Amino acid sequence: MNVDPEFGQLITADGPILMDPKLNVQRAVRQVEESAKCVSVVALEALSSMLGSRFSVEAAPPTIQNDRLYPEELAHICGAVQKRQAEFATARVCARKALIGLGESPCSLAPHADRSPRWPKGVVGSISHTEECCAVAVTHSRWVAGLGIDVESEATLPAELEELVCTRNERAWLEHYTKSDRAWLGKLFFSAKEAVYKCQYMLSRSFMDFRDVELAIDVDRGTFSVTHLSLDGAGGGENMLRLEGKFRRLPRLIATVAIL
Ligand SMILES: CC(C)(COP(=O)(O)OP(=O)(O)OC[C@H]1O[C@@H](n2cnc3c(N)ncnc32)[C@H](O)[C@@H]1OP(=O)(O)O)[C@@H](O)C(=O)NCCC(=O)NCCS
Repeated sequence: MNVDPEFGQLITADGPILMDPKLNVQRAVRQVEESAKCVSVVALEALSSMLGSRFSVEAAPPTIQNDRLYPEELAHICGAVQKRQAEFATARVCARKALIGLGESPCSLAPHADRSPRWPKGVVGSISHTEECCAVAVTHSRWVAGLGIDVESEATLPAELEELVCTRNERAWLEHYTKSDRAWLGKLFFSAKEAVYKCQYMLSRSFMDFRDVELAIDVDRGTFSVTHLSLDGAGGGENMLRLEGKFRRLPRLIATVAIL
């Protein structure tokens, strides 16, 4: 979010908002910050309800808080642009709170060289960011082998991206929906596949493209499953077909989880 007082505009994740000249800039900033807090609360509730009591979940609006980082975390992120510093730091602060919620000690969480998150022994976790919210979920490895979470604030997928994200069968399934339903369901495929990717990566350490995995979505139940994989051995091969996927569609937010 940026303030452009000269032109009376507040630049937000949803685009520029024209400000009433009488409206104090700081008050406008506070309103947008409050709105980001609301999105984080909604994300926290959505993820917690999907994951259940064996998981510890935290979410917060991204803010720069480098003074709360360990030296190796700071070394990793200090050269990045401000937006990235904010999301990285907030995710680390949320992750340490989530670890405490799990009964674990908070510790340094500098990522692996491939950018995937590093968790203490015996812990499985996942991180996701939007412009308004950083979300983290962790649990003990005795409960799950893999976990992926994803939050998306952009509610729809541009039509031209559908072909990159969805397989032929998925697009045939989307044909049954109206144009507007199709746009949010496209975004759901995107989010679910990011969650699936993060979930399988901690087991396979291998890259998967969006069309390497095919999903079946049950819109009424808020669930999805993997029906086909084009890569042998990805995420432990056959295991991927047992992956449990859930989603919530909320105002200004789609949240997905993938559990193995
Ligand atoms: C990693 C990726 C999934 C998400 O990155 P993103 O667009 O920045 O989205 P999010 O904000 O939701 O997630 C960021 C977090 O993902 C985590 N992440 C990064 N790489 C990861 C990996 N290989 N495995 C698991 N988690 C990973 C990190 O914790 C990161 O947060 P951090 O940098 O603050 O620690 C995406 O960039 C990517 O590389 N995708 C590969 C292709 C793909 O998604 N295929 C889907 C087919 S199944």
